[in-house]
Amino acid sequence: MKRIMTDLANKRLLLGVTGGIAAYKAAELLRLLVKAGVEVQVVMTAAACQFVTAVTMQALSGRPVFTDLWDKRIDNGMAHIDFTRDVDAVVIAPASADFIAKLANGLADDLLSTLCLARACPLLVAPAMNKQMWEHPATQRNVALLRADGVELLGPDEGVQACGETGMGRMLEAQSLLHGIEAFFQPKLLSGRHVLITAGPTFEAIDAVRGITNSSSGKMGYAVARAALEAGAEVTLVSGPTCIQPPVGARVIQVTTAQQMLKAVNETVNWADIFIGVAAVADYYVLNPSEQKIKKDAHVLTLELAPNPDIVSNVVNLQNPPFCVGFAAESENLYEYAELKRRRKNLPLLAANLVQTAVGGDDNELVLFDDEGAHPLPRAPKITLARQLIAHIATLYQKSSQKK
Ligand code: C5P
Repeated sequence: MKRIMTDLANKRLLLGVTGGIAAYKAAELLRLLVKAGVEVQVVMTAAACQFVTAVTMQALSGRPVFTDLWDKRIDNGMAHIDFTRDVDAVVIAPASADFIAKLANGLADDLLSTLCLARACPLLVAPAMNKQMWEHPATQRNVALLRADGVELLGPDEGVQACGETGMGRMLEAQSLLHGIEAFFQPKLLSGRHVLITAGPTFEAIDAVRGITNSSSGKMGYAVARAALEAGAEVTLVSGPTCIQPPVGARVIQVTTAQQMLKAVNETVNWADIFIGVAAVADYYVLNPSEQKIKKDAHVLTLELAPNPDIVSNVVNLQNPPFCVGFAAESENLYEYAELKRRRKNLPLLAANLVQTAVGGDDNELVLFDDEGAHPLPRAPKITLARQLIAHIATLYQKSSQKK
């Protein structure tokens, strides 16, 4: 399997699988972890082996899987101690109601529960159970105990369950679990901060079906929102029309036009400590758009365009503005045009990229411009660049609030 260099690369995790139908998703999670460059040791409970086989998990992890406290393959018979001494975290996915009860009460009657009790590393738990089991006061008590013990809860999610009922308790999908694990390892540089982000394009109607827009997938803005959430911030994302899922945990305000985006920003900006304008806002809107589809004919069609408000500049010029960050997409002379734009818009920080390297893809190259000069960030996945940008913002934000 091709390994991709990610922020999880070279981490070591112990993946504990307990008995529940969501155990099939643990196989997918394992595949994603290995692909991300993580070394994973799998330990399963006896009940988990009723749902997926140890052979499946062995094939995907490339390592022998352990299920038994008394396994003869461990020379010193100390698997419950040895297994967690050199891992960065233990992840239990799925965690059944029974296993959560054991963790909460410090029970240790099989290999997985014993190594959890004997561990010195962080523990992440992804609950998976029927909604009645999840809502039961006993489970809720146990979950509260785990939280109080510093255990990180990943989910659960709401939706249709394998039993046919609908409600809270289903395990997060493998991709969301991966994101949750990645988030856990990110430094909490913006803990308690409020971050307002614009993302995606805006769309300005010409008639009932046509419009003016910019080519923007929204991926960079959504990645910045995810990175801010990972850094511990509360995030509001004002998004133009995109085809991608916003990050879990963001408050999302969907808009279409630049005017709507400005209104949404104006209504939330007082709450924000930091504003990041990633949106590719259309520079013009159509005066008097037609309600009906315009019939085409052989004549020249003239559209009357009026300039849209500049949202970033509106925020910068507020009486008490948040720390403002702009984005710029240029097709040439990146360094010159971006720094000019930063000065013109009076921004302490501007992130710029060449459109040729950025639009639509999952990777990008950014250059950050601030009062100290230009800081190029080499080509990387958008989420990696977004994390570097958030780290830079956190440093500058801290300096600017010290000055105030
Ligand atoms: O379009 P331009 O290159 O000027 O965009 C630079 C920055 O200004 C970006 O952060 C973009 O989100 C913001 N912008 C805006 N409102 C506009 C145009 C741009 O907020 N009407």
